[in-house]
Amino acid sequence: MRRSYPFKTFLLLLFFVTTTLTVSSQQRTEVLLTDGWKFSKGNNDASFAKDFNDRAWKTVTVPHDWAIEGPFDKEIDKQMVAIVQNGESKPSEKTGRTGALPYIGEAWYRNSFSIPASTKGKQVILQFDGAMSEPKVYLNGVKVGEWNYGYNYFYIDITDHILAGQKNVLAVHLNNQPKSSRWYPGAGLYRNVRLITKDKVSIEQWGVSITTPEVSKAFAKVNIKTRLSATGAKLVTQILDNKGRLVMSDTAKTFFGNAADQNIKISNPDLWSPETPYLYTAVSKLYQGNKLLDEVTTRFGVRSISYVAGTGFSLNGTVRKFKGVCLHHDLGPLGTAINVAALRRQLMILKDMGCDAIRSSHNMPSLEQLELCDELGFMFLAETFDEWAKAKVENGYHRFFQQDAEKDVVNLVKATRNHPCIVMWSSGNEVPDQFGAEGVKRAKWLQEIFHREDPTRPVTVGMDQVKATMASGFGALLDIPGLNYRVHLYHEAYKAFPQGMLLGSETASTVSSRGVYKFPVVKAKNKTYSDFQSSSYDLECCDWSNVPDDDFVMQDDKPWVIGEFVWTGFDYLGEPTPYDESWPSRSSYFGMCDLAGIPKDRYYLYRSRWNTEKPTLHLLPHWNWEGREGQTTPVFAYTNYESAELFLNGKSLGVQKKSKDTPQNRYRLMWMDVKYEPGTLKVVAYDKAGKAVAEETKVTAGKPYRIVLDPDRKQIVADGKDISFVTASVVDKNGNPCPTTHERLNFEVTGEGKFKAVCNGDATSLEMFDQPTMKLFSGKLVILVQSTRKEGKMMLKVKGRSLKSAEVALTSGK
Ligand code: GAL
Repeated sequence: MRRSYPFKTFLLLLFFVTTTLTVSSQQRTEVLLTDGWKFSKGNNDASFAKDFNDRAWKTVTVPHDWAIEGPFDKEIDKQMVAIVQNGESKPSEKTGRTGALPYIGEAWYRNSFSIPASTKGKQVILQFDGAMSEPKVYLNGVKVGEWNYGYNYFYIDITDHILAGQKNVLAVHLNNQPKSSRWYPGAGLYRNVRLITKDKVSIEQWGVSITTPEVSKAFAKVNIKTRLSATGAKLVTQILDNKGRLVMSDTAKTFFGNAADQNIKISNPDLWSPETPYLYTAVSKLYQGNKLLDEVTTRFGVRSISYVAGTGFSLNGTVRKFKGVCLHHDLGPLGTAINVAALRRQLMILKDMGCDAIRSSHNMPSLEQLELCDELGFMFLAETFDEWAKAKVENGYHRFFQQDAEKDVVNLVKATRNHPCIVMWSSGNEVPDQFGAEGVKRAKWLQEIFHREDPTRPVTVGMDQVKATMASGFGALLDIPGLNYRVHLYHEAYKAFPQGMLLGSETASTVSSRGVYKFPVVKAKNKTYSDFQSSSYDLECCDWSNVPDDDFVMQDDKPWVIGEFVWTGFDYLGEPTPYDESWPSRSSYFGMCDLAGIPKDRYYLYRSRWNTEKPTLHLLPHWNWEGREGQTTPVFAYTNYESAELFLNGKSLGVQKKSKDTPQNRYRLMWMDVKYEPGTLKVVAYDKAGKAVAEETKVTAGKPYRIVLDPDRKQIVADGKDISFVTASVVDKNGNPCPTTHERLNFEVTGEGKFKAVCNGDATSLEMFDQPTMKLFSGKLVILVQSTRKEGKMMLKVKGRSLKSAEVALTSGK
């Protein structure tokens, strides 16, 4: 849900070092502490918490990821380990496992701000949406709070420490241990920091809980529980529709201690679903007499979910299967610093694929991502931990599990429970505690905490030790048994577990490098090549995983399989399987899209199944194979059409039809014996009646000639945050894409914008994202142009040594 948000806009007045937060007479204010942060890395001096001259420190804005500027370095977090969950028994040197970026170490952030004298007597709360990691928070030299888990939201009541009308110094100490992660965790204040001021008699932080226990076409019963900081006030809750019009209003009649419980009826409700992401808003108003003390707005959706043995998952009474992807939290070239434009772009790309669900592997999602999923229509599986009490990595979460797991679950649920997108919780991913009786108890304990905090959603665990969890009872006690891979055990697990359904909580882990194809084209596990790339024929996966088609068979044929979450939607920093011992590989190969967000071929394989609105006809590989003349070069088409005919330079190479012979033949059209000759490859798709309905071509390109720029948005917001993602590619004189060029490009942004970052999706590149130069990878890269806070025009110019340069004009407005 969207938690409490201020009604009016706030002005941030910037002074020399001190930011004055203008918090006017309104009842509640919420300010993002974005500007004026001072940052210093690598020094653990306690005086930094107190009165300290930090003028020489670097000035940064938050969200901030201190490690993304690099440089990449093989030695960073090099791990001599056997990755047991990958089936390894002997330790070997793993480079790039956590991205080879300098995330390790201690750092300080300091922010000086004043709040007006009128704040005196108010309650002041400081909320961190996540801080990587082990944040210790000091206000005016006094330690006011701390939290261990870098992914979680937490808040601190600083009422007794804040100096109204004076300068306050907020200092945050962070500490990232080596060997504390299996992927790039990022570093620093990578999510928002919020300062909330409210009356002492007010609604508690995260104090509103909205559920829709009864949903039908005719009406919805909306239950709203509101926790107040004191008794004796009047609570009025209004429900607004998505245009802000009043739907219903209710005054709480009964209070149970400090809590009110209201049931409000909405007639003919608009239901929330991925296809119709309709959102209502509840406005909770607290009065003393006629005086408004507090006002909180909460966005919510009216929707019902059910999980029934035999039937599976239903949303609003309709059975459906999750067409989901797993996502790590980094945003490629932006690192982990959250950015709404980047999050939105990811979701828009996934939407076009037909994806309808996200799993935040393996931790709490950002609040912004949840808001976007509510708005754009994605169901959400919100996960908590990659480790419980037993270690996967030496300094992982197991250090905190006993002490912190309950409060971490509680904060996840309290902060996010009103988001209609969340349809399931996950208490863990492949935790080694799947083995042993203690693990069974932990699974039960965590699940009960979830149930206590939120009786409306079920809990899963992504299990890879399926046999062990069948034997121990671990799998049987979960609300939803989630299987990571292990398609060959689906039947057995379905029989063994009592729930009458299975979730593919993690599937595929098929590896590929965008635009790279390897020969011969054969199915393989753990296949490696000397250039440290993987083939985009999508037939290569890990020891423990499988190719997509094997999942599709289960999804299509078994009503008791309730969907899948594919590993992963986008490539991420770290975990460069199958090259985790092969420097310079430093990011993953698992994505349907690369690290720059450019779709790989595999994206279209899923799109051909998942996007039921728009047709897909995608042809691979590219057709620039100088030196392969006469050699077998298989051609695949990913399409939702039943059959298609392939032509090479006008000559038919035959019609292929989908068949159930093999999983691949069922989901792909494949011409395995094509002999390469340069020219035009064309595929013509036929509908069921045999009528030609679509075609797609690949042409052998000539010499790279000019650069082409394609921005995802030409108009962005002048807020200093918004980003236009501009894809640069190269074409020959006739406009044919040149898929093999790796030429270096240089970038310059002028006007009211700045060059923010660049990424080419090459998992082996050691070029830094924030430098205005990079080589193309398979003919493409993406440039990120960011607005300033001034409205205006900006121009991106892109040059290459032997290429005709290009420019694109972008504008920013309010
Ligand atoms: C899974 C694990 C993921 C990732 C993936 C790679 O076992 O849950 O985090 O490591 O394997 O295939």
